[in-house]
Amino acid sequence: MSLTSIVVPTTPFEGQKPGTSGLRKKVAVFMEKHYTENFIQCILDAQKGKTQGCTLIVGGDGRYFTTQSINIIIRIASANGVSKLIIGRRGLLSTPAVSSLIRTHKCLGGIVLTASHNPGGIRNDFGIKYNIDNGGPAPDQMTNDIYELTEKITQYRITPDLDCDFQQPGVQSFEVDGREFVVEVIDPVEDYVQLMKAIFDFEKLRCLLSGTETTPPFNVLIDSMNGVTGVYVKRIFLEELGSNQDSAVRIIPLDNFGEIHPDPNLTYAKDLVDKVKEDTRYDFGAAFDGDGDRNMIIGKNAFFVTPSDSLAVVANNLDCIPYFRKNGVHGFARSMPTAAAVDRVAERLKKEMFEVPTGWKYFGNLMDAGRLSLCGEESFGTGSDHIREKDGIWAVLAWLSIIEHKRMSVEDILKEHWRTYGRNYFTRYDYEECESGDANKMMSHLESFIADPRATGKSFSSCGKTYVIKQADNFSYVDPIDDSVAKNQGIRILFEDGSRLIYRLSGTGSSGATIRIYIDSYEKVDTTTDAQVTLKPLVTIALQISKLKEFTGREEPTVIT
Ligand code: G6P
Ligand code: ZN
Repeated sequence: MSLTSIVVPTTPFEGQKPGTSGLRKKVAVFMEKHYTENFIQCILDAQKGKTQGCTLIVGGDGRYFTTQSINIIIRIASANGVSKLIIGRRGLLSTPAVSSLIRTHKCLGGIVLTASHNPGGIRNDFGIKYNIDNGGPAPDQMTNDIYELTEKITQYRITPDLDCDFQQPGVQSFEVDGREFVVEVIDPVEDYVQLMKAIFDFEKLRCLLSGTETTPPFNVLIDSMNGVTGVYVKRIFLEELGSNQDSAVRIIPLDNFGEIHPDPNLTYAKDLVDKVKEDTRYDFGAAFDGDGDRNMIIGKNAFFVTPSDSLAVVANNLDCIPYFRKNGVHGFARSMPTAAAVDRVAERLKKEMFEVPTGWKYFGNLMDAGRLSLCGEESFGTGSDHIREKDGIWAVLAWLSIIEHKRMSVEDILKEHWRTYGRNYFTRYDYEECESGDANKMMSHLESFIADPRATGKSFSSCGKTYVIKQADNFSYVDPIDDSVAKNQGIRILFEDGSRLIYRLSGTGSSGATIRIYIDSYEKVDTTTDAQVTLKPLVTIALQISKLKEFTGREEPTVIT
């Protein structure tokens, strides 16, 4: 059948500005007439003609509105000269899988349908993110271009009669405006599994997880939190690595994530933490977020590994992973608020070390230039240059490879690491859904605080400890590869002993403002005290300097990680 596209007049919507990681809004907003169509048209227009004849990957975490949005993407892409869409079956593809597919198929890019760890379902969030040809999130320049286009859009082009089913794998071909348009529906897991097999030693991991004649199985509990990783976990851990059937939970992707908040941290993944604590058979636990790029690692008795420590431990043990033995280890990187534990590893191993703003997109250029092998963020993100997104399942396989190689428990690996390097105690306090006005006033107050030259040298005391400010600024970053500049990336207060306080407003929420306070303090000798105890004085000082209670009326954070 030959189909014809039409032009539909439209008017701009306010607020289609992508945040830290794509455009995220309530589902109801994406459902407004023309809202999603406008945004997709602007993504394509921002490619400046490169969409003609191109191939794009499409898929996401399966949250509510995925099917509807893919229908819109198919119709708009076909009308705008795109040659081919590769879509995950039922619209499912984890964010790392999209990144990998873009690279394997050498595509122009991909459209990722996710609001990551934000709750899903009809009353909650949906999101659309564009990834470029290296597999990574679009850089600031492109998201700004997309935003500018959304502010002046007058029409979009669509093929209204194109009906295309994407529930089952297969290739479908259409004729649109006299051109061929192809939709290939693929198994969401296959390409990704092959990639993991090329990176890790699956044979050894299989022996670890399913046990051998002489060693009992290493018991893991993996929690997919009803997100997209379920399909990957089933294939990789249960089928390929022979882990017990009861070692994976919540592995059926649900469009509302079963009404939970699919964010792997101590608050939202409490179920996993409690189970591993209660059932001493478990040696290891891990959880992922909705779209599978975040991870949380815990050991026996729910011994918690902070993401900053996780990054440092993996950095210190990359020789346990075949991929790095083969390709070598170039540099390391972390986002600015991430605790500096990995910096110490970089120093000892004599590797280049980079500190970038919050957001995975800032790692891409360094990886493309061959200067970065491993990076991570305190926001439960760890990954390497195998793709250009953080990768939850990869992080778990990396940890299991280290455990297999060292034959040590998670807790012992951490304790050994701290004995060698000292420990960066770290915690993050989140105050979610604050009034935007209040949050902005608090940030302005902090701006004036750091602008005052008398801030340097000021001392603050709490619980018998005194900290003296060495430097205070608003973090800005010059990309060493393309010299692009990112300003105002968070207020930093650096103390003489190396401790740090950082204040930022989150860029991933969909309503109100989330204030994040990051607290990082280094101890050389005392490395086994509870983090909340060690950091108490600095937390008190952080609240005192920011006047958070006065500005927001909040007594307690909503989440502590
Ligand atoms: C997403 C991004 C990360 C970022 C995180 C926190 O997960 O992919 O790179 O660190 O959001 O962002 P936020 O702006 O909410 O602190
Ligand atoms: Zn995510």
